[in-house]
Order: sequence, then C-alpha cells, then structure tokens
Amino acid sequence: MHLFRLLPLGLAAYVTAQALTDVLTQNSNTLSTLTSLLQTVPDIVQTLSTAQNVTILAPSNDAFARLMARNPRSTELTRNPRLLAGVLQYHVLQGKIAANEITAVPKFPATLLMSPFANVTGGQRVEVALVNNTALVFSGYKQPAMVVTADVAFSGGVVHIISEVLTVPASPAQTAINTGLTSLAGALTMAGLADGINGLSDVTIFAPSNDAFKAIGSATGSLSTQALAGILAYHVLGNQVRFSTDLIAAGSPVSLATAQGTNLTLRRENGQLFVNSARVLIPDIPTTNGVVHVIDNVLNPANASAQPNPTASVQAPAFSGVTAVADAPFTSGIAPTATFVPASVPLNAGISNTAPRAGFLLVAVGMMVAML
Ligand SMILES: *[C@@H]1O[C@H](CO)[C@@H](O)[C@H](O)[C@H]1NC(C)=O
Ligand SMILES: *[C@@H]1O[C@H](CO)[C@@H](O)[C@H](O)[C@H]1NC(C)=O
Ligand SMILES: *[C@@H]1O[C@H](CO)[C@@H](O)[C@H](O)[C@H]1NC(C)=O
Ligand SMILES: *[C@@H]1O[C@H](CO)[C@@H](O)[C@H](O)[C@H]1NC(C)=O
Ligand SMILES: *[C@@H]1O[C@H](CO)[C@@H](O)[C@H](O)[C@H]1NC(C)=O
Repeated sequence: MHLFRLLPLGLAAYVTAQALTDVLTQNSNTLSTLTSLLQTVPDIVQTLSTAQNVTILAPSNDAFARLMARNPRSTELTRNPRLLAGVLQYHVLQGKIAANEITAVPKFPATLLMSPFANVTGGQRVEVALVNNTALVFSGYKQPAMVVTADVAFSGGVVHIISEVLTVPASPAQTAINTGLTSLAGALTMAGLADGINGLSDVTIFAPSNDAFKAIGSATGSLSTQALAGILAYHVLGNQVRFSTDLIAAGSPVSLATAQGTNLTLRRENGQLFVNSARVLIPDIPTTNGVVHVIDNVLNPANASAQPNPTASVQAPAFSGVTAVADAPFTSGIAPTATFVPASVPLNAGISNTAPRAGFLLVAVGMMVAML
C-alpha cells in the first residue's frame, strides 16, 4: 500500500511561501522532466507563478517516462507548445486541495483546461478520492494516478507529485470506442448522432455496455434510424454535468428531462445507483464535454416506468419480447484507436441491504465510487 510521503513539519513551514520555480528546483530528482517541458511554455509558467489558490498535480519523471513508453506519439508534447499547454492546464485545479481534503467521497474539482480543449462550463474536471489510504486522481477514460508526494506548499497553493501524466478527456464517441463501448459508438454513428453529441457542451450520458446491447440484440436490426436516434437521445441529459455525487445527492427517486424529451428516473437502492431499471456499472468517466456513466441496460423511452430489481445481478431488458444475440450489435467498422480500461468499482461492496440514513449513504457511496 502506498502512503503519502509527507514533508516534515519544519520543512513544510519553511517552504510555505516559496515560488513554484523553487519547488521545481528542490524536487529536481522527480520533477526535472516537467521543469524542462515548462521551459517551452513561458505563458503557463507566468500564469502559475502568479496564480493564487490552485493545486498543481505535477507528474513525476517516472510518469513522463511511462507515458512516452506507452504512447510514442506523446513525444509530440515536446514539439507542440499548444498541446503541451492544454495538457498542463488539465493538471492545475482551481482551488487549493490539501491531502487531508482528499476523502473517500470523491470530489470533482475544475481545472484550468477550457474551450477549445474542453466544453465543460467552469473548466474540465478531474476526480480526486481516497482509496485504501492512497489519494488517487482519475482523468480521461477514468485512468488513475497516485499522489506520491503530497502537500508541497508554494506561493499559489499546493503541489502534489503524481505517478502518471493525466489523460485529457476525449469526446463521448472516442471515449466509447476506446473503453469497449463499441456498440454504443456504432449506434451513435448509425443514427448520425456522434458528431452532434460530441459537439454539445455540458452533457451527462448514460452509456449502455456491449452486453446491454447484446441483450436486446433481436430488436436492433429492425430499428429505423429515427427510432434508434430517439432511444440514444433518451440516454443524454443536456446542459448538465452530473457526477455520481450529484446524482446521489439529488435524492431518490429523481426525474430528469432527457434530450429525447421523455424523462428518466434515477434511484438509489441498496447503495447502488439505477437509471430507470439500469444499474450504473462504472460512474464518472469524464469526456471533453461532460461525463459518461456506464450502465447495464439499454434505456427505453417507451418504458420510462421500468424499475430495477435491486437484488438481481442482471436486470431484465427494458424492451419487451427481445432475445439476446452473441455478437455485439452495431460494431461493424468500429475500430478503437487505443484501449483504456476505466477504473471500475464494485457498486454493492460493503453496503448494507437495508436503507441507510442519508448521511451514511453519501459517505458509503463515495467509498464505493472511490474503490478501484
Ligand atoms: C479558492 O478556489 C475555490 C475553487 O475555485 C473557491 O471555491 C474558493 O472560494 C477559493 N478560495 C479563496 C480563498 O479564494
Ligand atoms: C468545443 O466547442 C467548440 C465550439 O463549438 C468547438 O470548436 C470545439 O472543437 C469543442 N472542443 C472539443 C474538445 O470538442
Ligand atoms: C421531468 O424532469 C424535470 C426536471 O428535469 C422536472 O421539472 C419535470 O417535472 C419532470 N417531468 C415529469 C413528467 O416528471
Ligand atoms: C419494460 O421493462 C420491463 C423490465 O424492466 C419489461 O419486463 C417490460 O416488458 C418492458 N415493457 C415494455 C413495454 O417494453
Ligand atoms: C483496498 O483494500 C482492500 C482490503 O485490504 C482490498 O481488498 C482492495 O483490493 C484494495 N483496493 C485497492 C484499489 O487497492
């Protein structure tokens, strides 16, 4: 298990007001790659040197080395200052978040990454949460990074050194393709909705897994483009980025308007989150323009009253008279450009089957969400 390496108290007091450049110099063992990259983007250095009330997530030398090894195209960062600036802006959080403020209940702070790299009002988000005494940061495709050195004070706030370079979130369609949600990606393409959804700002998308599409496979072949588009639009909440904590805090049940027009219903049952009768399998995957939550059922706008069976491990399809197929529908011609496995959480882990008190539930769901 990885614990914070906290600075000795005396040192922390001494460094309280030091400049960012001093932090980089004093930590050159771990931050020399970041330091040399920063030299190519003086505007960013200027911004950070005068910033107040920010949290800098500083990838270690090992983090950059791993990124380069994993993705040779990432050397582009050394040649493309605009790209680098965007990536670095995603590593700066608005607001100072000290290590002891990273808790089992996740937080979704805004970063300095704005349009055109992200279309999330107030700035693109990351997730920070404490998992087994390790502070983790989740970025695009829900990829985790560990805080390896916490609470290095500087004049503008605090620096945490992290184990991975954060992944800037991709569009909803790209996120679907590269996380194995290829049926959804293909269905969006077939319905002519992929570009439209990618181009929106501030969306929440419930993304059925491939198994969910397989379960209604007998019906997918005969859907008209218009019917398919209606079903897909029923999975989209417009003008609202709702992370799991917002969904949970909203109470239960909650009715929300979708892009299709018909409302859907959110429920929490036995410490799990349901959308109509679909269970949320993986919450909180950030995208360029909001967030995706993976669900285990395709939602049916003509069956908005479908309710979950919270004790069943697999929910019945929300379409009557369908049978499952073996091959994932809509996936022909859908080719991933990368493979990302989002950090997943067992949504029922450690949660009592009786309805818990609201305060407890909030904490408990946060813990589940944070558990990798
Ligand atoms: C620091 O930033 C956070 C997030 O933007 C904000 O909520 C908070 O009020 C700010 N605090 C100060 C002292 O400026
Ligand atoms: C954000 O929206 C603008 C304007 O619609 C668009 O030009 C830009 O490509 C979008 N950015 C991303 C990352 O999708
Ligand atoms: C649909 O959801 C909206 C909130 O998004 C709510 O104001 C409205 O009352 C809901 N409609 C129905 C029929 O429940
Ligand atoms: C609605 O969904 C339930 C499963 O939650 C299913 O049993 C029922 O057949 C569906 N009804 C329609 C009209 O699709
Ligand atoms: C957290 O700790 C529990 C109990 O020791 C373990 O089962 C689980 O795998 C750990 N989770 C992570 C993400 O390390």
